Amino acid sequence: MSERITVDLGKRSYDILVGAGLAAEAGKWLAPLARGPLPVVTDANVARLHLGALLEALKQAGIDARPIVMEPGEGTKSFRGLETLCTQLLATGVDRGGLIVAFGGGVIGDLAGLAAGVLKRGIDLAQIPTTLLAQVDSSVGGKTAINTAEGKNLVGVFHQPKIVLADTGVLATLPRRELLAGYAEVAKYGAQGDAAFFAWLEANGAKALAGDDAAIVHAVAHSCRMKADIVARDEREAGVRALLNLGHTFGHALEAATGYSDRLLHGEGVALGMALAFRLSVKLGLCGGQDAERFIRHLKAVGLPAEIADIPGPRPSADELLKHMAHDKKVKDGKPTYVLLRGIGRAFVTSDVPIEAVKEILSSP
Ligand SMILES: NC(=O)c1ccc[n+]([C@@H]2O[C@H](COP(=O)([O-])OP(=O)(O)OC[C@H]3O[C@@H](n4cnc5c(N)ncnc54)[C@H](O)[C@@H]3O)[C@@H](O)[C@H]2O)c1
Repeated sequence: MSERITVDLGKRSYDILVGAGLAAEAGKWLAPLARGPLPVVTDANVARLHLGALLEALKQAGIDARPIVMEPGEGTKSFRGLETLCTQLLATGVDRGGLIVAFGGGVIGDLAGLAAGVLKRGIDLAQIPTTLLAQVDSSVGGKTAINTAEGKNLVGVFHQPKIVLADTGVLATLPRRELLAGYAEVAKYGAQGDAAFFAWLEANGAKALAGDDAAIVHAVAHSCRMKADIVARDEREAGVRALLNLGHTFGHALEAATGYSDRLLHGEGVALGMALAFRLSVKLGLCGGQDAERFIRHLKAVGLPAEIADIPGPRPSADELLKHMAHDKKVKDGKPTYVLLRGIGRAFVTSDVPIEAVKEILSSP
């Protein structure tokens, strides 16, 4: 049972396939796109668990796959990581008529996507995302990037893939904490623009997280459908795509304040950031307290953080977080941009937020 979603971008349109066992069918999907050597970029964790099966599937289809195994972790999304990867990609002999496969989580997707976007001025890309976060978010929409000392995702290009194969079966080996971090992005789609999907998650989210096939396929496919729709309307984030940043202004500040460390995963920062966005919306009189409570209750029910105090270690101060928010790349005219809510499923973008209100939300226990 697999679902197909099309990202409608004219000549650059592509399909996202979602289902259990898709990696084993990768040969069938990639053979028409691959010509010459096929670099498969992955990290050591994914390589240990899933690379053998993928390579076997590609071999069966007569594809000359060339695995490139990077170090796992955010540190790989760096100039150094990009240089290492580009050197290895060039050594495979892949050329402009070829294809590069990103087989991993968001780190591999972002790094290999950027390398594909710039190598020889652009080589086609296929995404085979292996984390829930990558399946519902980073593999779709064409954003790629590395981090610099100045901040996250500051150097990158838009480079849309030719196909996305989201094999929900590989999620079985994902550590629970990583699975939950990805689930924060799933909940984001409901909170941001689809109250009915949020209600579905309240009823079925736990089942999806427990590995129920039909539930996880629906959760991933519906999230991709929502992202595909937004990307088709606003590929370069000039408008509606910014709604997908719900939870990210606060989330990025929390990630920066905790040193992008193991204390807070990206998705956990997004969960906490969404809880803060709901609280700020209530404080500003935009959203009923019941909707905020309902959303926060769901985060807590599945095991995601919803309070700053949930972060282990010393609590980041409001001033420190505001300083990080002022450096966010979404700052316009010196003011951070917020995605706030008029209710579940009713997000909107604004910069018109009194700093005192933000400070209060960031200081409250
Ligand atoms: N481009 C975008 O639009 C976009 C959107 C959201 C996030 N991101 C980026 O994505 C990154 C985070 O992605 P992530 O959460 O997938 O992190 P990740 O790629 O670091 O993966 C998390 C961990 O899970 C391991 N892993 C991956 N798949 C596995 C599997 N099937 N089984 C067992 N272990 C597995 C990885 O080795 C890693 O240790 C961040 O850098 C973030 O900036 C990009």
